[in-house]
Amino acid sequence: MARATEIFETPELLAEAAAARFVECCKTRIADTGRCAVVLAGGSSPRAMHEILAEKYEGALEWSKVFVFIGDERFVPPDHPDSNYLMMVETLLSIVPIPEENIYPYLTEGITPEEAASLYTRELETFFKGEPVFDLVFLGMGEDGHTASLFPGFPQITEPSDDAAQAVFDAPKPPPTRLTLSLKTLNRAREVIILVSGSGKAEATRRILKDNEPLPAGKVMPVDGRLTWLLDKAAASQL
Ligand code: 6PG
Repeated sequence: MARATEIFETPELLAEAAAARFVECCKTRIADTGRCAVVLAGGSSPRAMHEILAEKYEGALEWSKVFVFIGDERFVPPDHPDSNYLMMVETLLSIVPIPEENIYPYLTEGITPEEAASLYTRELETFFKGEPVFDLVFLGMGEDGHTASLFPGFPQITEPSDDAAQAVFDAPKPPPTRLTLSLKTLNRAREVIILVSGSGKAEATRRILKDNEPLPAGKVMPVDGRLTWLLDKAAASQL
């Protein structure tokens, strides 16, 4: 596993670079295999990148060959303001010409979190005809070094599961009940990009990239894939 770190002067330049990497990777995978299976990140960091993709690259990609999955989801209805799916739809998926059937949200209504995780695992195994191997995974990172909904000291980290998706309870970042791709699934990807912006993330970034602390975002190390940390200057200020 090769790890690269790229640092950008501003959050805007970071988002531009992330959007360009998204398009470059999708074009390559579509040319090589006919499709690109991408995991989008939750939270607020990806919004700027999504808006650039929607604004500048709407016509630059064969969106019908892009398949979108969700790195983690809050266990709320799809129209709830905390929903990562809703954020992705509003900032990107309702704007670019991607077919509805190419988008794979978690089911978060009329089902238990455990059942929702099992259902997503089965959907992934059906799509990939076996273990999921994503072409491209975008992740964010919290100030405690969590990524997706993989939190420090939580069972999803201390006892890594073979299931592709897992339910998370009592998460320290509200809302407390979540669904997440497992660490093993993230580490099976061909390419992972961890997008980190802002001075609030500088300490966790240093703890991982400089001190090599095994925080969850630091445990994302694709076995046969490429890993790139895309940072703005503020997030990289303690490196
Ligand atoms: C979530 C995210 C989470 C996020 C980090 C960073 O559902 O909350 O997936 O892992 O990526 O907490 O969040 P921000 O981008 O909002 O700082």
